[in-house]
Amino acid sequence: MAVAAIGINFADCVTRMGLYSSAKHYVGYPVTPGFEVSGTVLECGAAVTDLEPGTAVIAVTRFNGYATRVCVDRKQVFLKPQRLAFEAAAGLPTVSLTAWFALFQLAHIQAGDTLLVHSAAGGVGSMLVQFGKLSGCKVIGVVGASHKAAAVTALGADAVIDKSTQELWTEAERHAPGGFDVILDANGISTLKQSYRHLAPVGRLVVYGFHSMLVTRNGLPGKLRLAWDYLRTPRFSPFDLTTRNRSVLGFNLSYLFEKRELIATGMQQILQWLDEGKIVPPTVTHYAFESVADAHRDLESGQTVGKLVLTCQESAQL
Ligand SMILES: NC(=O)c1ccc[n+]([C@@H]2O[C@H](COP(=O)([O-])OP(=O)(O)OC[C@H]3O[C@@H](n4cnc5c(N)ncnc54)[C@H](OP(=O)(O)O)[C@@H]3O)[C@@H](O)[C@H]2O)c1
Repeated sequence: MAVAAIGINFADCVTRMGLYSSAKHYVGYPVTPGFEVSGTVLECGAAVTDLEPGTAVIAVTRFNGYATRVCVDRKQVFLKPQRLAFEAAAGLPTVSLTAWFALFQLAHIQAGDTLLVHSAAGGVGSMLVQFGKLSGCKVIGVVGASHKAAAVTALGADAVIDKSTQELWTEAERHAPGGFDVILDANGISTLKQSYRHLAPVGRLVVYGFHSMLVTRNGLPGKLRLAWDYLRTPRFSPFDLTTRNRSVLGFNLSYLFEKRELIATGMQQILQWLDEGKIVPPTVTHYAFESVADAHRDLESGQTVGKLVLTCQESAQL
């Protein structure tokens, strides 16, 4: 397919830093990052009868998405909803599938549950907030900078904790005195211990990233700091889990890529909700393909809202 736009994920930055384990596992360095693209079909294999050149599509890739052309299995391709521009479509799959998997396949949220969503204004956070509300949950979003709060409120969160001006856990206790049913945490070291402590009985802590370990200087995190944070990362005791009736769940979708049926089921549900107007894609900030370094720097600054997307001029002119 000819790529019109490419979604950027925090994992792309980690891949670039040389620290993404599934990049080492499946490809080996050097590796081209990129998990998601949108564009138009150029050519189909003989066995593909339901797509034709020119069809507007979204595709998920396991690496190699930062490209003007990609060749992918039919099962990784989904029709682009007409209502979405190529940029919004490229930014949809990874964050939506991550949020969908966390909430519906692992945490099994129920109406009435109280959720705490860290980094709620980010790509994954934007979808967690919306899926939580769609499911009838009370959603408390956490942001690290004041300019992000309005975006989380607009997505439907019941309350937003701005940890740059408020004491996170005092506020969290005010909103959920009995603890949270589900906490979604991709911060890692900076919040993981307290997230676990703030679970209600039968509460589930979903761990899906470690971005607070990745404070970078000149594009690379300090090795000593990384090692120190690794050692300080909480290890959960099976005795404590059982006594307190708490669960800790973790996942990384890039290791689940072979589960094509799962990805198809998730995408089908996400596209249906989108079509029905029940969810919106994350807001998108565009960068030219050549400005990918700026996009990574901005994402690593921790200040962005929604998704960052690269646009490919070359393909757009086809
Ligand atoms: N396990 C999986 O399968 C899977 C799949 C997709 C994404 N993820 C993970 O989900 C998380 C969110 O990914 P995303 O692409 O949607 O990114 P994002 O949330 O749009 O951006 C990252 C956010 O993390 C927070 N943050 C905290 N410490 C940071 C640091 N040192 N550097 C940069 N940001 C920092 C910032 O928000 P606040 O300051 O507002 O908290 C920042 O905006 C990442 O950890 C990513 O690795 C996991």
